[in-house]
Amino acid sequence: MDKNDGPAAPLRREHWASRIGFIMAAAGSAVGLGNVWRFPYVAGENGGGVFLVVYLALVFTLGLSIMVAEFTIGRAAQRNPVGACRTLGGRRWAPLGYLGLVAGFLILSFYVVVAGWTLTYAFKLATGGLGASAGEPAETFAAFVADPLQTIPAAAVFMVLTVAIVLGGVKGGIERANLVLMPLLFVILVGLAVRAVTLPGAGAGLSFYLAPDFSALSIDTLTRALGQAFFSLSIGLGAMITYGSYLDRGQNIPRAAGWVAGLDTLAAILAGFAILPAVFAAGLNPEAGPGLAFVVLPTVFASMPLGEFFGTLFFILLAIAALTSSISLLEPLVAYFIDEHGLHRGKVTVLVAFAAFALSVPSALSLGPWSGFTVFGKSLLDLLDAVTAGILLPAGGLLIAIFVGWVIGPKAIFELGLAKPEASAAAKVWLWILRLPAPVAIAWILITWAAA
Ligand code: PHE
Repeated sequence: MDKNDGPAAPLRREHWASRIGFIMAAAGSAVGLGNVWRFPYVAGENGGGVFLVVYLALVFTLGLSIMVAEFTIGRAAQRNPVGACRTLGGRRWAPLGYLGLVAGFLILSFYVVVAGWTLTYAFKLATGGLGASAGEPAETFAAFVADPLQTIPAAAVFMVLTVAIVLGGVKGGIERANLVLMPLLFVILVGLAVRAVTLPGAGAGLSFYLAPDFSALSIDTLTRALGQAFFSLSIGLGAMITYGSYLDRGQNIPRAAGWVAGLDTLAAILAGFAILPAVFAAGLNPEAGPGLAFVVLPTVFASMPLGEFFGTLFFILLAIAALTSSISLLEPLVAYFIDEHGLHRGKVTVLVAFAAFALSVPSALSLGPWSGFTVFGKSLLDLLDAVTAGILLPAGGLLIAIFVGWVIGPKAIFELGLAKPEASAAAKVWLWILRLPAPVAIAWILITWAAA
């Protein structure tokens, strides 16, 4: 499995040790704070059920097609996003790679801040520092995010953990960490969802989540669902190009992408079940914004036997899920400097992480001492989140679709290496989606939204 040379692999490159290892790593990238922290609050702000429907439709059409496109680019080129676009499309496509690196850098900077919240919450639950009687969790959260002496060190700890794994390289670090911990997170999410939907008063939340009210559909809902799909699937920025570049030819790319999108969606749906019914049971507002999970879940844990134990375990697992995502944000940047500038993994990893952390500090402060300073009414953290998920990732996805659909074209189908005729028929549909419907739909959503 571990052939590093040969004509298709111009660079000597480490490869995933196993098929399942690759799927778990890519699923590890996809499943993270996007599912548990971001999905429920964005769904809550955008009509619940109607958001879920639009989101699912986008994931399994555009999202899946673009994920397959990214894996294909990465495996064909065996390079980081910039090098891959340049190798396959010539110099003028290199900016697509750079766009992705910038998006990844910006996401990493605020991602570690939110991941730091989960680390802190694990600690607070373990030590009984989270009140759960009416109103208390909301106050606790507000006081916590406003305190940079807590949030900045927590973000730093998380960044150090990210660096430690990326230093270990693809196989030793990234692959091994995923295999064990992902299944455990799913088990506990199921447990939480069961508890939340059986809380007294959960019914209103269930119908909010499951009965779509299509009159609430707006261009805003569409844009937020598109951004959430890209963010949650880790696509549009080259993270999946990078993971695909560690693939050898044995792997069936569409099947792997199907698994990744399926697991990611399952995690998001479960998180919705764990959080939205509980919001209503606790008499809270689903439009509470980015703090939603951190305000609601403590009330769920408080209503469970051994709640402190399960709560601590949950936030630890969530932090680990976030870690398998943050490494996929750092790795493309590291791969770029290694491949294109011949630098050493060790030095680059530390430097890039340090630079990203320099931006984490103002992000963290923007919810506390600097909260008076907003742009378009948003704190820096919210702004970075909105610009990356809402604009940069969809724009990256649009260009990736055009790149694979028109520039690589039928060669991309060849790269998929599908033997069965029905598989190549599906591949033609895929290429067609990338050529027209995907770019047109993304462009339409972005332009309509910007004009509104
Ligand atoms: N998909 C990750 C999550 O849901 C976040 C992420 C986005 C990771 C983009 C890598 C690239 O938490």
